Amino acid sequence: MHNPCRICGGTVKGSIDLGRHPRGNAFPRPGDTADEFFYRLVVGMCDVCTMVQLLEDIPQEVRYHDEYPYHASGSAIHRRHFEEIAQGFLDTELTGPDPFAVEIGSNDGVMLARIARAGVRHLGVEPSRQVAEMSRAKGVRVLPEFFDEGTAERIRAEHGPADVMFGANVIAHISHLASVLRGAALLLARTGVFVFEEPYLGSVVEKTAFDILYDEHSFVFSVRAIQAAAERFGLELVDARPMEIHGGSMRYTLAPAGARPVSPRVGELLEKEAAQGLGEHATLEEFARRARTVRDDLTALVRDLHAQGKRIVGYGAPAKITTVTNYCGIGPDLIPFVCDSTPSKQGRLVAGTHIPVRAPEAFSADHPDYALLFAWNHAEEIMAKEREFAERGGRWILYVPDVHIV
Ligand code: SAH
Ligand code: TMP
Ligand code: ZN
Repeated sequence: MHNPCRICGGTVKGSIDLGRHPRGNAFPRPGDTADEFFYRLVVGMCDVCTMVQLLEDIPQEVRYHDEYPYHASGSAIHRRHFEEIAQGFLDTELTGPDPFAVEIGSNDGVMLARIARAGVRHLGVEPSRQVAEMSRAKGVRVLPEFFDEGTAERIRAEHGPADVMFGANVIAHISHLASVLRGAALLLARTGVFVFEEPYLGSVVEKTAFDILYDEHSFVFSVRAIQAAAERFGLELVDARPMEIHGGSMRYTLAPAGARPVSPRVGELLEKEAAQGLGEHATLEEFARRARTVRDDLTALVRDLHAQGKRIVGYGAPAKITTVTNYCGIGPDLIPFVCDSTPSKQGRLVAGTHIPVRAPEAFSADHPDYALLFAWNHAEEIMAKEREFAERGGRWILYVPDVHIV
């Protein structure tokens, strides 16, 4: 399978083929699974600009809609993270007269609510209606649209240039990334910055975190690919900082070309990426082999425990669960349910494998022998919350970076 690169038109060769998958965040209602949508989950790298991307693309209106179930405020650690980002902007970039901040994919308003409380002009761009409503209830101003070049032009005409543009776990979701970068170049003030943080290819490869691959992640960014993409659209990568969040992310800072000094971190990270072989097809092919090993090990372990009569329940239903359970063929016969704290996911099913999603009380009311941790990036928070489970002899199963029991 080959495709033209969405950024530069180079050739993208499909190196990781995980087979047919449903949408990560579909979470169908029971009885509503007759005509589930499936696509082929193939990921490859552009042989010119090295951008890692999905080969098959699903229209954005199918992915983001009124009932988009992900709520950014769902984790205490994420809430603190986004509040710190907001405070950081208020202390540094938003100190001039009447500054203006724009967030792409502002979701339930976790970041912008802090900016709003400080009385700073802001605008969230958020096409999913229910989460946009939740942010309005927090005093956040929202434009219920998909961000692109046209949106950027209209925002600039109405509000003037932006001092800060921000996005988290959204920029890599947008297949028209070229239009987003053109929009950023249009909307940013000469002194402004476009900051975004997204799952990092280096961490994904290092941890064999193949579950990060699903329909919404149109791209998996690297410093090298973002630097090249920025350059095409009159922007410059001036800083990059690794983040622990989401199991390994990178925060990129773009500015109009030539407007700001470039941090030495950029060069250091580029060297590290070259040493890790991030720009080579062979690295992705090796990753695909390791993903198959994790699949085989996890399937064998779960089947074995099940055969021994052990009860295994899933913990956390992030979009990632759709990739793992479909790729491994793990359904309700092996895992009767998975618990998740997000109300909009409870009572629904994991797409494709149809494992029911229940409230966390279903877990604590009747502890299983084993809990398979699908929200592995929240391990610390969840294990602390469910201390009693381990105290009573329950064991956690993890599959990142390999299959193990703790
Ligand atoms: N920033 C939050 C939410 C990430 S989920 C966090 O990091 O937790 C991604 C969000 O981006 C969803 O709410 C989705 O509706 C929104 N989104 C998707 N495509 C978009 C686009 N083109 N423009 C603006 N928002 C978009
Ligand atoms: P994420 O990895 O995309 O942030 O998704 C994490 C999922 O895990 C989300 O659906 C919420 C759920 N979750 C819990 O059920 N309990 C928790 O304590 C935490 C932190 C998350
Ligand atoms: Zn390319």
